Amino acid sequence: MTIWNLGSINADMIYDVPHLPGPGETLSANRLDRCLGGKGANMSVAAARAGAQVSHVGAVGSDGRWALDRLTEYGVDTRHIAQVDVPTGHAIIAVDAEGENNIILFQGANHAISQDQLGQALSSASRGDLLVMQNETNLQVEAAKMGREMGLTVCYAAAPFQADAVQAVLSYLDFLILNEVEADQLRQATGQSVSDLKVEHVIVTLGSKGARYHHRAATSDFPAYKVQPVDTTGAGDTFTGYVLAGMDRGMPIPQAISQANRAAALMVTRHGTADVIPDLKEVRDAKLD
Ligand code: RIB
Repeated sequence: MTIWNLGSINADMIYDVPHLPGPGETLSANRLDRCLGGKGANMSVAAARAGAQVSHVGAVGSDGRWALDRLTEYGVDTRHIAQVDVPTGHAIIAVDAEGENNIILFQGANHAISQDQLGQALSSASRGDLLVMQNETNLQVEAAKMGREMGLTVCYAAAPFQADAVQAVLSYLDFLILNEVEADQLRQATGQSVSDLKVEHVIVTLGSKGARYHHRAATSDFPAYKVQPVDTTGAGDTFTGYVLAGMDRGMPIPQAISQANRAAALMVTRHGTADVIPDLKEVRDAKLD
């Protein structure tokens, strides 16, 4: 099976700062990491490191060759990433002493993916493959609809969260992942709690408390491991990539979530995004409580 990821690709500039900057404030950073990022690329790398075959569908500008090279080095199929006449997306990320962040996004090439490119990529997909999207590219609805018509398992990571973006794809989804606050915002927008949605698998991430899995009428909780975070950026994407890879490899979802919790715990102890996502061996060997 293959995971098809219609996903963003960003150059991340990650600044460690004593606190997150307020309005009008100029702040000196203690450290700068430049990483491959973008929620899409992070998920592709996580899923590939978790042992899945991943084909990324996206776009970079003429300044983005390095990102393709890096994705390839990390085991992601980049044949369906176009080079377009728009600069590669980037993110300016501030990380405070507790590992919390705020992010400024420049969408750039991530919103220049063409319908033809998407159609061509998905024409190579087979029934039963997974398709995942996040809210950092164009063509989310088109992809979800196509995926549903083709018999793919359609997954949506509702990040960055916008209730109307989720609502636009909701009827095509088999799998939805979002955090607790977002689940509440979605309930306000739709009048339905996540457990009432007609989506077979819903995971609500609970930050340092772990994750809750809703499947039909059943709910199960997966507590997080206790670690000292230095940077939470990309931990959610790592979790999602690991869950998807587990599903794709036929693992029962509870087992995939437990493994993803380990990967996310390890990830928050590292500075950076896609480049530092742990592989399966590191995840299995990590000593975590
Ligand atoms: O989730 C973290 C990601 O959000 C970063 O890699 C950044 O590029 C933004 O997309």
